[in-house]
Amino acid sequence: EAATLRNTFKDDFLIGTAMNTPQIEQRDTKAAALIPKQFDAVTPENIMKAEEIHPQWGTYNFGLADKLVAYATANNIRVNAHTLIWHSQLPAYVRRLQSADSVRQFFTEHINTLASRYDGKVYSWDVVNEALNEDGTLRKSIFLQKLGDDYIVDAFRLAQQAAPHTQLYYNDYNIEQPKKRAGAVAVVQKIQAAGVRIDGIGIQGHWRAGHVPFDEIEKSIVEFGALGIKVMFTELDLSVLPNPLNGNTADVNQTAAYNAQYNPFAAGLPDSMQQQLASDYEQLFKLFLKHKDKIGRVTFWGVNDGQSWLNNWPVRGRTNYPLLFDRQFAPKLAYYKVIESK
Ligand code: XIL
Repeated sequence: EAATLRNTFKDDFLIGTAMNTPQIEQRDTKAAALIPKQFDAVTPENIMKAEEIHPQWGTYNFGLADKLVAYATANNIRVNAHTLIWHSQLPAYVRRLQSADSVRQFFTEHINTLASRYDGKVYSWDVVNEALNEDGTLRKSIFLQKLGDDYIVDAFRLAQQAAPHTQLYYNDYNIEQPKKRAGAVAVVQKIQAAGVRIDGIGIQGHWRAGHVPFDEIEKSIVEFGALGIKVMFTELDLSVLPNPLNGNTADVNQTAAYNAQYNPFAAGLPDSMQQQLASDYEQLFKLFLKHKDKIGRVTFWGVNDGQSWLNNWPVRGRTNYPLLFDRQFAPKLAYYKVIESK
């Protein structure tokens, strides 16, 4: 039997992918055939975010989430549900709420409804997503502003009560960086000090080929692991393109000329960059294997390069190559290097 990601790492950690809407709807038949061979974990890329699953207060679109659970169950794949409390992809009716009481009511109903419905059906929840600023302080989201500093503990407490059989995680990007990492440690410790359950932390892992912060990643695995929780890499992809907006996502609609300037690999990825991507992925997986006792899951943020959000973020219309499968679903050099890292 040919080596796959799933069977190569089966004794080490779960191997996951994000699933986009056409994949969950089973319209992407190539992905549907590939995923169960290569992956034993999936995260819905968008369909369980508040704006999609809870578009009007009290009206839920459970259909696609239920479909995802059925597909995963049939293929012996675990679902990481993503995500309960996040400042982004929030429906407009939530962003318009003024009073603390109304925000509290939404917060409680949203967590209770989703966490209880999928308890025992999903393996884990990203309970809170991206609550930290780069300096480690709490982001001034509507939840912080209306509910105060304890909202993260409150979210985990509600999730624990509603989903006693589900793993509960905090998820964020750049938390391998020292200041933000210290903030994440403080978040975890505060939850634990309140006697509330947190099972793991998700490091998103949106990095850039040639600039992967290996040392900080290793320190983070050790430091988070020492808190007695599992470490997950939850949205792994390695962009081959620079970030022209330097993290400022305010204006993603750029001119065609601007996009061309920042779309240098439209005609294909040069061999040197293919090698760089492969060696970065190989080194990352060697690091993951070295610390496999602390790592619960490594999830890629998409199946193939054509399906990656990084073609459209932080500017639209670029041609990126951040994943292990090319646009035809063929394994890239990076795929083979990941398999060989074992
Ligand atoms: C992204 C999706 O990939 C896109 O399709 C969507 O338009 C925006 O969100 N951090 C997260 C993910 O936690 O939910 C984001 O996913 C990427 C950044």
